[in-house]
Amino acid sequence: MAAATIPGSTDKRIDALLTLLADNAMIVISGAKIAREIGVSRSTVWRWTQTLRALGVRVKGHPRTGYRIEKVPDVLAPELLRRRLRDTPFSKRIHHFFKTDSTNDVALRLGHAGEPHGAVVIAEEQTAGRGRAGRAWHSEKSSGIYMTALLRPKISPVHAPLVTLLAGLAVRDAVLEQTGLEADLRWPNDLLLRGKKFSGILTEMHAEPDRVHFVIVGIGINVNHTRMPDELAAIATSLRIEAGGSHSRVELVAKLLRHLDSYYNRFLNEGPEPILARIAEVSSYARGKRVRITTASESYTGTTAGLEPSGLLRVRRDDGRTEVVLSGDVAEAS
Ligand code: BTN
Repeated sequence: MAAATIPGSTDKRIDALLTLLADNAMIVISGAKIAREIGVSRSTVWRWTQTLRALGVRVKGHPRTGYRIEKVPDVLAPELLRRRLRDTPFSKRIHHFFKTDSTNDVALRLGHAGEPHGAVVIAEEQTAGRGRAGRAWHSEKSSGIYMTALLRPKISPVHAPLVTLLAGLAVRDAVLEQTGLEADLRWPNDLLLRGKKFSGILTEMHAEPDRVHFVIVGIGINVNHTRMPDELAAIATSLRIEAGGSHSRVELVAKLLRHLDSYYNRFLNEGPEPILARIAEVSSYARGKRVRITTASESYTGTTAGLEPSGLLRVRRDDGRTEVVLSGDVAEAS
C-alpha cells in the first residue's frame, strides 16, 4: 500500500511546501520557484499559503514578491518529523491530517488493511478524539499532540497492558527532556503534573487468544493550551500551563517516538522486567498509594501493592483482600 493514499490525509505537496518554507525561514522564495520545486501551479501555491495561514503558519508575501515564513512553523509535517526519526521504524509511514475524527480510528482501519509496523497517524485536530471508557479527548486545533502508532509485536495479548505502560514511560522521558518537568504516571494510562492530567494513552488491539495481530497506541498530550476548558480545568493541565512558554510539538513528537522505539525494543529483547522496574521508580501510584478503584461493577478503596508481571495493578483492599485490577478508574483516595 502506498503511504499517502488515505482519504483526508494531507497532500504530500503541502507537506513539501511547509518543509521548503520551514527550511528557508526568513528568506523570500519566489512563487515560481516554489511551484517548480513542489510540482504545482503558482496559483495553487497561493491557495495553499492561505490554508497554512489559516492554521497559524506565518507566511508573508504574495505571488508577485515571493513568500517568506516568519518563524519555523510548528505543524507536525511528515517531512519535518521523518528527518528526525530516520533510524527508527516510525519514519517511513507518517500519515498527517489537518483534521480527522480520531487518529485511533484511522489507525484501526489501517491496521486491518495491513499497514506495517511503525506507521504513525497524526492530526492537528480531532473531531471525535476518544479516551478510555468511552470518554471524549479534548483535541483543540494545533495546541496538542494527537497521535497513534501502529505496532505489530509478536506477543501474547496477556502482555498488551505493558505496551500502554511503556508508552507512558516514553511520554514521561520526552517531556522531561524537553521541559525539565517530571511527570507522575497514574496506572495504567495517565500522566500527571502537580496532580493534574496532561496526557493520556488509549491502547487498542486486534488479537486472537494467543496472538496479537496489531496494537495501536493512541497518545494525547496537552502541549500549548493556554487554558483548559472550564469543565476540565480542575483536573487537566498542559505543558504550557505548567512550564510556561510554548513548546515545539515537532520536537516533542520526535523525542516521544524515539523513546517509544527504545522502550519497545527493550521490552521485546528483555521482557517486562525493565519496564516494571522503571514504573516502580517513577510512578507514585505503583506501590503504597491510597486509591479508589472504580470498575464497571464496583468501587472500593485500598492501597496499591506493585504490578503483576503482565503489567496489571495489585491493590490491597481495606478489607485485606488483594485484587488484580484489569481495568477501571484509579483515583487517589485520602
Ligand atoms: C485517556 O486518557 O482516556 C486516553 C486518551 C487518549 C487520547 C488520544 S489522542 C490520539 C488518539 N486518538 C484518539 O481518539 N484517542 C487517542
